[in-house]
Amino acid sequence: MDFLEWATSPWGQNVPIHIAWFLIWVSAIAGLLFLIVHAIYVMYFAKARVFASDASPAVAAKIPKHVPRHSLVARLFHWVMAASMFTLLFTAFLPKVGVQFPWVTYHWIAGAVLTVSIIFHIIHASFWLDFWSIWPDRIDLDDAWKRVRRFAGMSAPPPRKFAKYPLENKLFHGVIILCGLSVILTGIFMMSRVRTVFFPRNPYLFSDMTWGLMYVLHGLAGVGLIALVMMHVYMGLRPEKLPITKSMIFGWMDRDFYLEEHDPERWVVEAPSASSISSRVESRGAD
Ligand code: HEM
Ligand code: HEM
Repeated sequence: MDFLEWATSPWGQNVPIHIAWFLIWVSAIAGLLFLIVHAIYVMYFAKARVFASDASPAVAAKIPKHVPRHSLVARLFHWVMAASMFTLLFTAFLPKVGVQFPWVTYHWIAGAVLTVSIIFHIIHASFWLDFWSIWPDRIDLDDAWKRVRRFAGMSAPPPRKFAKYPLENKLFHGVIILCGLSVILTGIFMMSRVRTVFFPRNPYLFSDMTWGLMYVLHGLAGVGLIALVMMHVYMGLRPEKLPITKSMIFGWMDRDFYLEEHDPERWVVEAPSASSISSRVESRGAD
């Protein structure tokens, strides 16, 4: 079984041309298996979650009824990026599994939208959002170890409540960065092989071997995104996660949900007072 498709270049060299398309099914089935195993585990085997401690009543009283989580700009970015990602996955892989249509133009247009949205997001997240909130910290790793020990039936103190993002979300974001930047950077070069509005066509930019490896990386990251997006959408649709999904639509989550899962010391949220309402617009997480 070969994971790549090969061809012979005009110079007689054996070069890869792209991944073998059965990998589409490998990724889709891996995503599906994750959903099935996770759903069965939650339904029949998961125990109620235990956290280290609750916020003191004094701290809880300061939390507003609606806790701002995703600003309008962050939400618009998420949904524009998600629409471009779905378009890219469908236009890339439907023709490979038998649904034929002229896909290339739709694909590079969606790729351009994804690229612009990610460049925007990197600038927005670096200067306006809470930059460190999406990267694992020491407490996350410490808690992950406690969770693994408790899962295995060994003794360990309960973990702390989450900061803004649980470790799982942070890891998902990290893997998305790897796959996302791989498809974007290779995709920009690959556009020079088709006719687009951006630059003149030039299929001779790289050697056949370099082009081949670029198509392989584009394909591997692309099929990886099938399973990743399946797992992510499934999590967004799970009943216990709906308050979080609601926050990606309306921007806020309920105080009760916030207090149940988040640690006010790790994800600081202030009650809006008359004087702070205007300044909060510029503060972290609420711009
Ligand atoms: C392909 C690449 C990427 C994708 C698809 C992506 C997507 C997302 C999405 C959908 C969110 C949640 C929406 C929000 O509240 O902002 C998010 C959060 C975040 N991302 Fe990215 N991202 C990518 C790359 C990056 C990179 C390279 C950086 C760092 C330079 C970054 C930094 C952040 C930060 C700091 C947050 C948390 C913002 C907050 O909640 O305050 N992202 N990302
Ligand atoms: C129907 C489709 C989708 C739904 C319902 C959905 C839902 C959500 C929600 C609720 C969040 C916020 C999580 C939080 O606040 O903790 C989020 C974040 C994020 N979404 Fe989506 N999303 C969808 C499609 C996509 C697609 C196609 C991508 C592209 C790969 C994507 C990438 C991300 C990333 C990287 C984050 C930030 C990391 C995280 O919080 O997990 N989303 N999404």
